[in-house]
Amino acid sequence: MLVEMLRTGMNSANEGFFAEGYVHKQVIDWIKEMLGFPETTGGVLVSGGSEANFTGLAVARNAKAEVDTKAKGVQALSRKMTIYCSDETHHCLERSVEILGLGNEALRWIPTDDDCRIRIDALKRAIEDDKKQNKHPFCIIGCAGTVNSGAFDELNALADLAKKENMWFHVDGAFGAWVKISKTHRHLADGMERADSIAIDLHKWMNMPYGIGCTLVKDRFAHYSTFVYGHEAKYLKSAFDQLKDQIINPHNLALPLSRDFTSLKAYMLLRAYGKNKYSNLVQQNIDQTNYLGELIRKEPNMEITAPVVSNIVCFRYKPKRLTEPELEKLNKMIYNDLNQISFWMVSDTMIKGKYMLRACNVNHRSQKQDFDFLVNEVKNIGEKIISQINL
Ligand SMILES: Cc1ncc(COP(=O)(O)O)c(C=O)c1O
Repeated sequence: MLVEMLRTGMNSANEGFFAEGYVHKQVIDWIKEMLGFPETTGGVLVSGGSEANFTGLAVARNAKAEVDTKAKGVQALSRKMTIYCSDETHHCLERSVEILGLGNEALRWIPTDDDCRIRIDALKRAIEDDKKQNKHPFCIIGCAGTVNSGAFDELNALADLAKKENMWFHVDGAFGAWVKISKTHRHLADGMERADSIAIDLHKWMNMPYGIGCTLVKDRFAHYSTFVYGHEAKYLKSAFDQLKDQIINPHNLALPLSRDFTSLKAYMLLRAYGKNKYSNLVQQNIDQTNYLGELIRKEPNMEITAPVVSNIVCFRYKPKRLTEPELEKLNKMIYNDLNQISFWMVSDTMIKGKYMLRACNVNHRSQKQDFDFLVNEVKNIGEKIISQINL
């Protein structure tokens, strides 16, 4: 809150070498270091995961297009560009593809395996099919933590394939990239550091106030070239001959020109708590999530409905004698009653056509007993509903 006061009272100028530029650079450097990206990677803070993904894909499109998209646009393409992600990928990627003028028909939703990870065999087949039809496969999107179940794609396999096919490799790590700073689960993110671009949120698992996402891009010049104004915008002095300063200037690396001093929020929090503290908090959430998974497994009338991988438990109340449609109806009622208890917010979702409850544990203040309470409440509400209505 103090940072909000401070930053609101300060103006952030358009030049990278004023306070905002230095603070922004420091925050990007810390993020790169924590997530294991090379020192030479560039980056920009944006409003959240959606904009972070958009920013990465905009660079990908321009870098891989067979025409100068900045000058001629996608109208000049002779081969349609195609892009690939799993059917568990967040829909903000589809929105980005639409806004980038590629059309959502260019986005191939590849099926996932039982662990909710993209099926590499199906992905390879889709790329081959598109090449045969004279399309231009240009980008593979990997998930580092899916929104539904927190699953991680096999990022090394995706990086290998992208390299072989000369495609861009983008990772959506908005939800789960921070697993990298955990002690026990960092291996899930193996291969993430091979991405050409990655979208990250600091307002999700890092618990920072809303409005802080980040895009890292390895090819700094491709990033800069995508967003920088040309020589015609003389008043901004952002011409290519001042590359050294301007290539790290956040005003040249994302859609907004005028920006607020968002980087100060991230700077203060990272500076105050440090990597170790965040690492312990992320680990605590993972341990608690596993604890919740164990509690549910012990319950005869409850079942886990997706693999417990990082910070989410998908589950449902499941008395034995009920049919699938009855189970869906019952769990929808449990969901409604459960969230009347404003103690928390459990969400619901569908995975592979099955309705389920979703407990997503990214709150740094969660405590073990919260999960005992949750399981008891689901049981009590479930039993009460069953006794009241005829299922
Ligand atoms: C995996 C994933 N990607 C992207 C987003 C979009 O992020 P934001 O809400 O910060 O725009 C979300 C949001 O839940 C997400 O879970």
